[in-house]
Amino acid sequence: MDRWKTIVEPFRIHSVEPVRMTTVEERVAALEAAGYNLFNLHADDVLIDLLTDSGTGAMSRDQWAAIQHGDESYAGSPSWFAFLESVQALFPFRHVIPTHQGRAAEKILFSVIGGPGKSIPNNTHFDTTRANVEFSGAEAVDLVIPEGRDPAAIHPFKGNMDVEALDAFLRERAGSVPVVFVTITNNSGGGQPVSLENLRAVRAVCDGHGIPLFLDGCRFAENAWFIKLREPGQGDRSIPDIVREIASLADGMTMSAKKDGLANIGGWLAMNDDALAERCRNLLILTEGFVTYGGLAGRDLEAIAQGLREVVDEDYLRYRIRSTAYLGDALDAAGVPLVKPFGGHAIYLDARALLPHIPPLEYPGQALAVALYREGGIRGCEIGTVMFGQHPDGTESAAAMDLVRLAIPRRTYTQSHIDYVVEVVSYVASRASDLRGMRIVQAPPALRHFTATFEPLG
Ligand code: F0G
Repeated sequence: MDRWKTIVEPFRIHSVEPVRMTTVEERVAALEAAGYNLFNLHADDVLIDLLTDSGTGAMSRDQWAAIQHGDESYAGSPSWFAFLESVQALFPFRHVIPTHQGRAAEKILFSVIGGPGKSIPNNTHFDTTRANVEFSGAEAVDLVIPEGRDPAAIHPFKGNMDVEALDAFLRERAGSVPVVFVTITNNSGGGQPVSLENLRAVRAVCDGHGIPLFLDGCRFAENAWFIKLREPGQGDRSIPDIVREIASLADGMTMSAKKDGLANIGGWLAMNDDALAERCRNLLILTEGFVTYGGLAGRDLEAIAQGLREVVDEDYLRYRIRSTAYLGDALDAAGVPLVKPFGGHAIYLDARALLPHIPPLEYPGQALAVALYREGGIRGCEIGTVMFGQHPDGTESAAAMDLVRLAIPRRTYTQSHIDYVVEVVSYVASRASDLRGMRIVQAPPALRHFTATFEPLG
């Protein structure tokens, strides 16, 4: 298995989508028209789209075939039962509630158990999770281990929860904590995994305080692969077996099937608690749809059922994690500052380290993301002061880090696409001192990264 160093994609191409070549002049014009916000680009003006790994992967032959089995009965569709069986084969929770994507599951759960005065601890909340907790009036508390907050710290399970901090928090606040969450992998912390040992310790703390533990399971298969590779004693276990142990440590989960469901849309909310499930189902019917389809078509349920069988395949996961590291290793060798160790689904460029002459309030991450698009048609995502620097009182301050995330859609780009990304990023990095900061021209009162417009300085 490790005899050859070339990463062989464990698939061959069956159907192709064109990508459009553009010139620098066309991209300069596209940037101007988009107000230098990459969310405003037309996607067909992008050559390599690394904005997100969510819903942007390629489906397999067998998923497209499963789509033809999609049964669109309003209630009790065979596609629902195929979905349920596939979810419960990995996550045997008593209740599975289908939703149109992850944040719909979050919205329903926190509408039921959140609310003013409540606190929800997590290793690190993803932005939609935090937003749904806060929208309910509750407080979102991040308790990742200290290494998880330091881009340069090396730790095999940098997504782990700080168990002592959790215990101390619960000792003080147990009465107002309806659930503890663990996000696998920890996306906001760089796609870093959580160990089984840590999950067992979190479980013990939750049991000590009588509080349920839920998973945000978006990238569960990548997390299980890291456990198999890195955690002592886990190397001989099958991935489904590791996933089932992860599930056995929790009382429920939220899920976006747009990640490790290998689907373009979908998600679910699952739990063992009958009374909680009933309240969630009542809200589901109000906002998403009937309990056997949630916000999904029968064909979407079929694509997810098949995707869940494929995502735990070891050839796939070996390729997935090695190919992400391939991009990281090549950029590291070129001297580009990065968050390490490399996560499962993305490589994060440290724009603040690369562009020390651009102060955080001139948005080094945005300047770098814009330069990657201008020079090579590559779209990444600023995760820094544009995204996190704006406060509800109208003030602004530097975020903890200024990063550009290059998220890798599943099974979509080949090694030569990635070699091209390495070439473009290295070129831009070698001319880092020529880059200039940006100024915000207009921004909405919240979540400005999606719609703000910018202007280059100087
Ligand atoms: N939780 C995590 C850890 C996520 O990464 C995401 C989405 C969600 C929840 C919400 O799921 O998009 O299906 O509603 N992450 C995407 C990203 C958008 O680009 O990282 P959703």
